[in-house]
This record gives sequence, C-alpha cells and structure tokens, in this order.
Amino acid sequence: MLQVIPSEAAVGADIDGVDLAQPMTAEAFGTIHRAWMQHLVLRFRDQALTDNQLMAFSRNFGALDRNPRHAKTEHRQIDDSIDYVNVISNVVENGRAIGGLGHYEAKWHSDMSYNPLPPMASALYALEVPPAGGDTSFANMYTAYETLPEATRDRIAGLGCVHDSSLNSVGQLRVGFEAVVDPRKTPGAVHPLVRTHPVSGRPCLFLGRRRNAFIPGLELAESEELLDMLWAHATAPDHTWTQQWRVGDLVLWDNRAALHRRDDFDGAERRVMHRTQIVGDRPF
Ligand code: OGA
Ligand code: MN
Repeated sequence: MLQVIPSEAAVGADIDGVDLAQPMTAEAFGTIHRAWMQHLVLRFRDQALTDNQLMAFSRNFGALDRNPRHAKTEHRQIDDSIDYVNVISNVVENGRAIGGLGHYEAKWHSDMSYNPLPPMASALYALEVPPAGGDTSFANMYTAYETLPEATRDRIAGLGCVHDSSLNSVGQLRVGFEAVVDPRKTPGAVHPLVRTHPVSGRPCLFLGRRRNAFIPGLELAESEELLDMLWAHATAPDHTWTQQWRVGDLVLWDNRAALHRRDDFDGAERRVMHRTQIVGDRPF
C-alpha cells in the first residue's frame, strides 16, 4: 500500500510501500506526483536499484538531462563522456575520483541553474553512506517567497539574477572557466528572481546559487545587499528539512521550487550516490 507520510518540516515526505525497481502503474505515479508537487522532496527508503532502474524510474517524470560539466581538480581526470547517471562521491580509485563534489560542504543551490533550461528535478540514490556527516538539507522556496515582507516582494518583482556557471556547488572551478572577480561579469543564465512554477502556477523564489550572483540593473552593492537578505530569509530553518542518509534511500527533489545543500563529511569515509536529473523548462 502506497503511503505518503509528510515530514514535520516545511518540505519533504516519505513514500512508503513502493518498489521503484518495478515499472510503475499510472495510478501509483499519479499519487507520487501529487505528493511531490505538495511536498517538493520525496524520500523512498529501502530501495535496491541498478542504474537502469534509477533511470527508468526517473523517466516517469520526463526526459533525462545530461551530466553537468565536471569540475577541474587535482585528483580528477576530465571525463567528457555523455552519461545520464551522475556519480556524486569522494571515492578515489586508481588515483582517479569516481564522482564529483568530494567530501566537501556543498552550499545551498539549485542543480544546473546556470543553464538556460535548468532541470525540473534531480533524484539522488544512496549506495554507500558515511557513518556521520554528508546530510542533505532542502529549503521550500514557495514558503520563502510567501513569507517575505510585501515591500520586498514588490521590490523583486520583475528582477532577474545571474546564476554562476564558473563554480560547482562545492566551489571548484569548472573546466574552461576563469575565476570571477567582478559579479557584474559572472557567466551563466539570467533567470527571474521570482519564478512561476509551471505545474502549480504558484510563485516561488528562484535564487540558484549565491556565489558570484548578481541582479542586472542594480548597483553591485545594492545587488549584494538584496541577495544577502533574500538568501538569509530563504534558508532560515523555518523553510528547511534535513535528510540523514541510509543506504537504499532515493530522494527526489523539485529543483524549481526547492534549494538544497550538503554537509561535509570525513574524507576517509566512503560516500557513493548516483544521481539523475530530469529536463526542465525555461523559468518564467
Ligand atoms: C547533488 C548534490 C548533495 C549530496 O547531487 O546535486 O548537491 O547530498 N548533492 O551529495
Ligand atoms: Mn546539487
């Protein structure tokens, strides 16, 4: 029996009673999709998935997006292979990192928001987790928007923001990019600060990533001040929920209306996650 069990927080629900390795009925998918739209982040525990099953489940929601470009790191060779399963891991094999983001903290972000068409969703599946650390938190950008003072909502209506493509979410420079020294020249897509969710029709904040962000049309100092205020508000504990991983957890998030971040963890421990990302549309 499929069951939706909401978290106590502003975001997140557990879905019990479904084996994601099996093809899904339209009815089960309907229930899951409705719960997803309501809670933004769904957790499915005790799954056992091959990459093909992870991809098949993800394709219920739409076409898969390609891996983001890989970061340039000392221990990492550049792998440009086109692949839909993105390995997120600190594990090094034969002198080569098997995945991205290492064991570092990942600051609040929305995945691949520097692209003109950021993914609608990401699904992250845990194969190996460290005994401590590496928790992933999520923040609800509907409630973040709705709880802004009216004057701030008026002020940001119609403004855009540039989403930095030069750094990944742990702050590593991506291949082929130079370090940004002036946020007014940050490379990356410009999206509305307030977007309309294409399914719910509701407005939500779309902040993307703080590093090197800039609001075109404002003075740099004004942009910094406004962004700092919006970020502090949006990521306050009232809007967030934290996932402590167990092996076999799959967490699916709405990348349009939720931000996420990850705690660092002991680099001597192993953490291996496989991620798919689902194609989204242009924010409006
Ligand atoms: C991601 C990400 C979080 C984590 O895969 O997009 O930000 O918990 N990872 O590793
Ligand atoms: Mn991410």
